[in-house]
Amino acid sequence: MEKLEQLYEGKAKKVYNTEDPDLLIVSYKDDATAFNGQKKGQIADKGVVNNIMSNIIFQILEDSGVPTHLVRQLSDRETLVKRVRILPLEVIVRNVAAGSFSNRYGVEEGRPFAKPVLEFSYKNDELGDPLINDDHILALELATEEQLALVRQYALKVNEVMKEFFLRRDLRLIDYKIEFGVHQGELILADEISPDTCRLWDVKTNEKMDKDRFRRDLGNVEETYQAVLARVRA
Ligand code: TMP
Repeated sequence: MEKLEQLYEGKAKKVYNTEDPDLLIVSYKDDATAFNGQKKGQIADKGVVNNIMSNIIFQILEDSGVPTHLVRQLSDRETLVKRVRILPLEVIVRNVAAGSFSNRYGVEEGRPFAKPVLEFSYKNDELGDPLINDDHILALELATEEQLALVRQYALKVNEVMKEFFLRRDLRLIDYKIEFGVHQGELILADEISPDTCRLWDVKTNEKMDKDRFRRDLGNVEETYQAVLARVRA
């Protein structure tokens, strides 16, 4: 399958048409942004890490009953995916307090939750991706009630599968963000799952092994992305 014209360029990926109107090619970039694009940089070979890691995890999720956009990996940076109409929602699942949860509610990072916390942000860069609840989502017609119920069900299934997957690789899944889309009427997992979109802490040392190294200038950014990929492939 060949790339035709570029449809879209986002902060971390480019998307291309193919000869099949139902399929797109995603190409992962090394560009990194944080804080709604205010901080910009590059992480060498991040695109390769995120592409390969995301595909490994999406395949496991497919096998666990969560439908995804994955068709097949084409190269180190490129993957063939199903075309979706993306729901403008960031679906965030948290197992341990960190990041904006800790800041918003004044809770120290690292405090585990008794059960997973599910939250939504409205994907809208101009508004700064504001937190949004179920009633807001329905009022704004961002998803139907049925879609929202399925989003919750899949988001928690993803959590179960991923928590165990990462724990076997000595990584604690602190939190993550996923996105869903609709393909031929079916709700499926889209976008990516990578160190850009998860918080992963080493089980033994609590070392941060994710994009917080870039966001917070913690150093060893490239090395950490490579180390996560090595564990995911193990
Ligand atoms: P937060 O604590 O900053 O709200 O982030 C929660 C999780 O979502 C964390 O794993 C990082 C991920 N995330 C994204 O993937 N994209 C984003 O734009 C933001 C803000 C967070």
